[in-house]
Amino acid sequence: MKIVVAGGHGKIAMLLHPILKEKGHKVTGLIRKEEQVDDLKEAGAESVVVDIEKEDDISEFVGDADAVVFAAGAGPGSGKDRKWSVDRDGAIKLIEAAKKNGIDKYVMISAMGLDTPRGDDVFQVYQQAKAQADEALRNSGLNYVIIKPGRLTNDEGTGKVKIAEKLDRGEIPREDVARVIAEVLDNNSIKNVEFDLLSGKDEVTVALQEFV
Ligand SMILES: NC(=O)c1ccc[n+]([C@@H]2O[C@H](COP(=O)([O-])OP(=O)(O)OC[C@H]3O[C@@H](n4cnc5c(N)ncnc54)[C@H](OP(=O)(O)O)[C@@H]3O)[C@@H](O)[C@H]2O)c1
Repeated sequence: MKIVVAGGHGKIAMLLHPILKEKGHKVTGLIRKEEQVDDLKEAGAESVVVDIEKEDDISEFVGDADAVVFAAGAGPGSGKDRKWSVDRDGAIKLIEAAKKNGIDKYVMISAMGLDTPRGDDVFQVYQQAKAQADEALRNSGLNYVIIKPGRLTNDEGTGKVKIAEKLDRGEIPREDVARVIAEVLDNNSIKNVEFDLLSGKDEVTVALQEFV
């Protein structure tokens, strides 16, 4: 399969590329800095340089693919404006590009607890931006999977997760989120679903099978 990952140099994305390559997929990361091209090559992915905030239409950069993954984010330290321009509008631009280019499958890295926003002003805007992007995807007509992880850690993955429609707060290593994304991309029976995701006791494949 050909897979395009927006936010291609993000921490989850960089863990995802080698897993997808190992499975035989061709991966392209959308990145905004030329100097990140070598990192992606080492991780097993090609690169396309594009700033998703600056372009109104990113379809020519996305090109042909079987699936797209939204792994971008304005990140900690950014203000409200960039929560809208990256976390919401970047995700929506990827939806538009997928529709325009005839790409059927869209995997969104969302977040847990968006329906009960908490924290300071900026964090609340982040949660609203993510929620609006998720809603746009649900209504897009694309075949979608919205993955809502808890707090992300850089711990080594365990390959064991918990998946449900709603979970209490918790955390999960980014590596395990990457494993779930890879499995979701490989399994065509997983479509038009959304779920909370935390570390747990079940193998990724088992947790997904039991959920869908
Ligand atoms: N932190 C948490 O606990 C948590 C919990 C649940 C969900 N999430 C979500 O999980 C997702 C992935 O997390 P992560 O930690 O892997 O993210 P990350 O390491 O912060 O990576 C985000 C990537 O987005 C890229 N990006 C930002 N603005 C861009 C633009 N204008 N054009 C192109 N690319 C742009 C960044 O590029 P640069 O490298 O150029 O900066 C970066 O590589 C995010 O959407 C986040 O909201 C986070």
